[in-house]
Amino acid sequence: MQKRTIDDLALAGRRVFIRVDFNVPLTADGAIGSDARIRKSLPTIRRAMEAGGRVILASHLGRPKNGVGPSLAPVAQRLGELLGQPVPLAPDCVGPTVEAMVAELPPGGVILLENVRLHPGETANAPEMAQGFARLADVVVNDAFGTAHRAHASNVGVAELVPSVAGLLMADELAFFRRAMIAPERPVAALLGGAKVSTKIQLIESLLARMNVILIGGAMAFTFLLARGGKVGSSLVEPEMLEVASRTEARAREMGVELLLPVDAVIAANRDGSGEVRTVPADAIPDGWMGLDVGPATARLFAERLTDMRTVIWNGPVGVFEIPAFAEGTLSLARAIAKGTALSVAGGGDTEAAIAKAGVADGIDHISTGGGAFLELLEGKELPGVAVLTDAA
Ligand code: 3PG
Repeated sequence: MQKRTIDDLALAGRRVFIRVDFNVPLTADGAIGSDARIRKSLPTIRRAMEAGGRVILASHLGRPKNGVGPSLAPVAQRLGELLGQPVPLAPDCVGPTVEAMVAELPPGGVILLENVRLHPGETANAPEMAQGFARLADVVVNDAFGTAHRAHASNVGVAELVPSVAGLLMADELAFFRRAMIAPERPVAALLGGAKVSTKIQLIESLLARMNVILIGGAMAFTFLLARGGKVGSSLVEPEMLEVASRTEARAREMGVELLLPVDAVIAANRDGSGEVRTVPADAIPDGWMGLDVGPATARLFAERLTDMRTVIWNGPVGVFEIPAFAEGTLSLARAIAKGTALSVAGGGDTEAAIAKAGVADGIDHISTGGGAFLELLEGKELPGVAVLTDAA
């Protein structure tokens, strides 16, 4: 369902409560590891400020427990640098002090509320928390796609009380999801990686109904290969998922979906890349050895298959790409997707890191800001943070 967006509202003089996802990675000394999420929120924030809105930004950071967790102070600082004007940080996210600060906010002004998860009522979606946010807002704009799979007070509770629309980042994420999953130009393929079939089976089932081709790499491929009767040595497998893997392959055949597994694998006796590394057929891995990347024949086969597509979805690295000895499969596929002419939509924390490592972010049409939210959307689930937004006419 299409949602109303920030562009559908008159904002001048109104208190515009924007839920952003400033859940940035922090280094050991508390500095911002990557400001990508802050940068991606800028268009919505600027749009609201330029329209004369009085802009109140709300976000979580980390997973505070019992009121103890990180402050958004470094984010306020960085956002101020990016906007070219200081961004005051409120000492809290609800309550009389914050309400007084918001009352002082001029049109075009901006303030960042302190980490919403410092209140346990945020994740509990407590009514008093939602009401606390609602007292700060004339309209709610949700730009926190990365948090949309959570039903919390600052994205769902408040949106039930105040008219709420999608921000530009949120709208963009939903538009690419529609172009890749709901009404893709065909043929359409999904490249999937990751360790476990159990965590990806819902995704695979959802993709079976929509894809022409599914390419499976990563450790989860070994559960499929073992189910086919292959020898996978000591590769990571989930014995309890063997039957599910066989059934999935049978369903793919019935549905006319081409499901491809690796034909060769880069193997080693340990995962740290320090010992001997060999390339062998993916279904003939000797005892004591484990598959840690797809081999070059698989990378070529998958890349060729992807070249024929009009739309490509990518979730999950196909090997332990953090270790140079096992990185080439993932990096070469990232390059192939980036070079291809298909619409490319990628998501998931590791996938984004692999694209950055391959240096091909510019060649990917859309890199989702969502990890869990992107996955749940692909799984066919309704995201509570999206469902609550006003439908477009
Ligand atoms: C994310 O980083 O995936 C989002 O900000 C959601 O964070 P959470 O998993 O702690 O809810």
